[in-house]
Amino acid sequence: MPLLRLESVSKTFRRGSGPTVHAVNGVSLTVERGETVALIGESGSGKSTTARLALRLQEPDSGTVVFDGTDLGAVGREELRRLRARMSMVFQEPFESLDPRQTVGRTVEEPLLIHRPDLSPSERRASALETLEQVALGEPFYDRYPAELSGGQQQRVGIARAIVTRPAFIALDEPTASLDLSVRAQILGLLERLREELGLAYLFVSHDIATVSHVADRVCVMYLGRIVEEGPVAEVLDHPRHPYTQALLSATLSPDPTVRTSAIRLAGQLPSATDLPDGCPLHVRCPIAVDACATTAVELDPVAPGHSVACIEADRALVRPVG
Ligand SMILES: Nc1ncnc2c1ncn2[C@@H]1O[C@H](COP(=O)(O)OP(=O)(O)OP(=O)(O)O)[C@@H](O)[C@H]1O
Ligand SMILES: [Mg+2]
Repeated sequence: MPLLRLESVSKTFRRGSGPTVHAVNGVSLTVERGETVALIGESGSGKSTTARLALRLQEPDSGTVVFDGTDLGAVGREELRRLRARMSMVFQEPFESLDPRQTVGRTVEEPLLIHRPDLSPSERRASALETLEQVALGEPFYDRYPAELSGGQQQRVGIARAIVTRPAFIALDEPTASLDLSVRAQILGLLERLREELGLAYLFVSHDIATVSHVADRVCVMYLGRIVEEGPVAEVLDHPRHPYTQALLSATLSPDPTVRTSAIRLAGQLPSATDLPDGCPLHVRCPIAVDACATTAVELDPVAPGHSVACIEADRALVRPVG
């Protein structure tokens, strides 16, 4: 049984009488225990919404989310609250996700107030201090306020708050995007160490392919609210089969200037999520689209063990000359 399973999950948003935004459209994904699954894709493709749906911080319009055998849509508030101790989230902007009026100690203890009412104040404090040690902050930070900390230290507090209840799963929504490069590496190292020490599984939302190639076991590529390709990270990044993945990767500069990255460009802009095209969502921009792409609904199909692609022309995408 996987730790987390999203099955055909969809979510739309509507502001007032405005048009409906199809943020997530029939996404299915699995996170196994101890695994890191990365979610990549352009801005607005539905990554953060998928992460929030996975934790049921938002309700899907349809589809199910099953965490450790429990359908989150079928349980009452109390049960959901209990499960929340085992699943948490770390956000992109550490400062915005922290309450500026609360000390670090209080911030880290807060989830314990909710999930471990059996603990005494001194036990809570001991637990928070132990957790602050785990994120390499320690006791000197206990009485400090978020504004007194660097961005990297703030994110360590966000991570401490996420692990203090000893979860099995954490959704990381671009956890290093707002940090300097050197700090980024430290935080990624910390997340990797915690994953090993605590046996955590991560859903890792990121724009950064280099980061994903370091931290993830598997990767899901999102486009307009759908997963268009998924598979083992090396397989997808080295042998991308969906034209969208190929374009996304070729937009990332190779660190080696002698390596010519294939220039696969998509035509036009990301279509609005309020007005989804029929057929394959990419066909209006796709360099290898054929007529059938405009009308054929595409499903993820396996192309290799554990590697699936939603493209009726995936075989052609494989042999297409690049450059
Ligand atoms: N609460 C909301 N109300 C209205 N629209 C929303 C809401 N949340 C998300 N959306 C819309 O849903 C779509 C997907 O948004 P989402 O934040 O999931 O994308 P993302 O892939 O995380 O993007 P980014 O890389 O910029 O963080 C976007 O069109 C966004 O504007
Ligand atoms: Mg986002």
